Amino acid sequence: MKKRIAVLISGSGSNLQAVIDAIDEGKINAEIVLVISNKADAYGITRAQSAGIQTVLLQHTHYASRIDFDLAMLEHLERQRVDLVVLAGFMRILSAEFVRHFSGRMLNIHPSLLPKYKGLHTHQRAIEAGDAKHGCSVHFVTAELDGGPVALQALVPITATDTEQQLQHKVHLREHIAYPKVIAWFCDDRLRCTDNNLYLNDELLPANGFQLTFDAPY
Ligand code: GRF
Repeated sequence: MKKRIAVLISGSGSNLQAVIDAIDEGKINAEIVLVISNKADAYGITRAQSAGIQTVLLQHTHYASRIDFDLAMLEHLERQRVDLVVLAGFMRILSAEFVRHFSGRMLNIHPSLLPKYKGLHTHQRAIEAGDAKHGCSVHFVTAELDGGPVALQALVPITATDTEQQLQHKVHLREHIAYPKVIAWFCDDRLRCTDNNLYLNDELLPANGFQLTFDAPY
């Protein structure tokens, strides 16, 4: 049966677009039943509406506490009987209760090769550290920020002339390949998370996940 996906956004939503496109192309066996934004000016709302997807705007500033906001989201997600929650540039820390509720069925994409560079400014930090490679990680969400088990990493070489913006652009292109791939695995019941261990086709994945190397097609 087709999985029911909800995507949570705060901004541009280019990863949301990549998932919409992958579903249209038959690469993901799922339906996006809901897009929630916590920002009124998020361009991702327009992307979702253009694709005929139901959107809900929930502004966290209108709620007394983090948990109240999360409960409002939870209500919408439960009403839509969501199988998978996809965080795509959602710039809010989630409560432990919310994370626990969707344990093993909530994914995030982070622009670094975790466990390196949790948090913000990942591209600049990778350049400043003199790293030869950078990339993005798709991981299940746990209570630890950017700390959940990694399903896949897509690698990008850092060249001597890369600026922060150039590197961000290269990583973004990789994100648009990486995220749909992992979502497709989940929706085909090929990827599961048990006790913080990830299994792809019933085989235990290494701690840094499946590696999509430099030469894998963009
Ligand atoms: C991406 O860089 C992603 O890694 C991070 O937030 C950004 C979202 O970009 N979590 P977009 O809104 O999908 O374009």
